[in-house]
Parts: sequence; structure tokens; C-alpha cells
Amino acid sequence: MAQTRERVPVVIVEYDQIARTIAERIAALIRERNAAGRPAVLGLATGSTPIGIYRELIRLHREEGEAFCAGYEQAIRDAGGIDFQILGIGKTGHIGFNEPGSGVESRTRLIALDTVTRRDASADFFGEDNVPTEAITMGVASILDAREIALVATGEHKAAIVRRAVEGEPDPDVAATYLQNHPDATFYLDPAASAELTRVKT
Ligand code: PGA
Repeated sequence: MAQTRERVPVVIVEYDQIARTIAERIAALIRERNAAGRPAVLGLATGSTPIGIYRELIRLHREEGEAFCAGYEQAIRDAGGIDFQILGIGKTGHIGFNEPGSGVESRTRLIALDTVTRRDASADFFGEDNVPTEAITMGVASILDAREIALVATGEHKAAIVRRAVEGEPDPDVAATYLQNHPDATFYLDPAASAELTRVKT
């Protein structure tokens, strides 16, 4: 065995291996602490040396997020599918958080929240700056798989988007229009939210 004069533990491996090892150690620590209901408190260095560690942490976090979403879809399937789905509608026309552009095939995933959605949520978060920029949402396809759907909207601030969702052409920019093609979806509206519908206005 080679002689050493080291007075402290030393690991000698390539940098990518160092980054992986430390990132995995941090991830394990976060899980451990979270399981105990406590946050993990990290002292992070600046400079270029640790950047590979942080990159690896981001990759692990993404992987975990994707696994969470796949697990959520699997849990729905394992339960035999959704019998009855309640939905709200956002001012962007989102159902779940399926913001404009969400495809009809979309499944549970991480999505960037629309500026309009973040502004609308600001009261609940005590200021727009506190509103998360991203959310995990069931996808359009996950929602349309439900056997029965009730979309509920109240208040005059929803009247315009309700009209678009109910009377407008199906449009990926207004996810709620996808409900027009569902065999058992009903919009439950209070009078204020229904105010822009043609049958109410005429
Ligand atoms: P709200 O949100 O019920 O707070 O109006 C509805 C939604 O964004 O889906």
C-alpha cells in the first residue's frame, strides 16, 4: 500500500465524479431532513469550482420531478381512473394549470405559469413576487380521461373567458375549450360568470 502523510480524509477522482458524489450526498441529506420534517441547511460556495455540483443537483431535481409526474399518472390509472373531476377556470382559460399552448395530449408535468395567472394568485401569496413561477399540473389528456367533469366559475371577472370557453372555437390557447369534446362535461356558472353568454345577453 502506498504511503500517505495525509492528516485529513482525501478523495482523488475525476471532477465529474466529485460533482455526482457531492450532489447525491446533498440530495440524500435533503430527503433525510425532510423525512424528519426539517429543512436541510446548506452552506454553498460561490466561484467556478462548485458549478458542476449545482448542475448535477439541478439534473437530479428534474429527474425527481419527472418521476413524481409519472407516478401521479400511474396512481390515477391504478385507482381505475377519475370518476368525477372538479375544475376551475383561470382568466387565461386554463384548466388545472394548463396554460395557453397546452396540447390535447399533455400529461402531468411541470409548467411555467402565465403572467396573468401569477397576478391573479398574488393575493393568496401576499404579493406577486411570492407567487411561484412554475407549477405541477395534470395535463389536458389526464383531465379529459375523467369520466365526468364539472367546471365551476363564479364572478364577473370570469364572464369573458367563460364565453370564450363555451362558445368559442376549440383552441389550444384556451385549454377549457377542449372540454367541448368531452362526452360528459358541464359548466356550472353563477349569473355573474354567465353574463357574457349569448343566451344571457340576448
Ligand atoms: P380561482 O382559480 O378559483 O381562484 O378563480 C381558478 C383557476 O385558476 O383554475
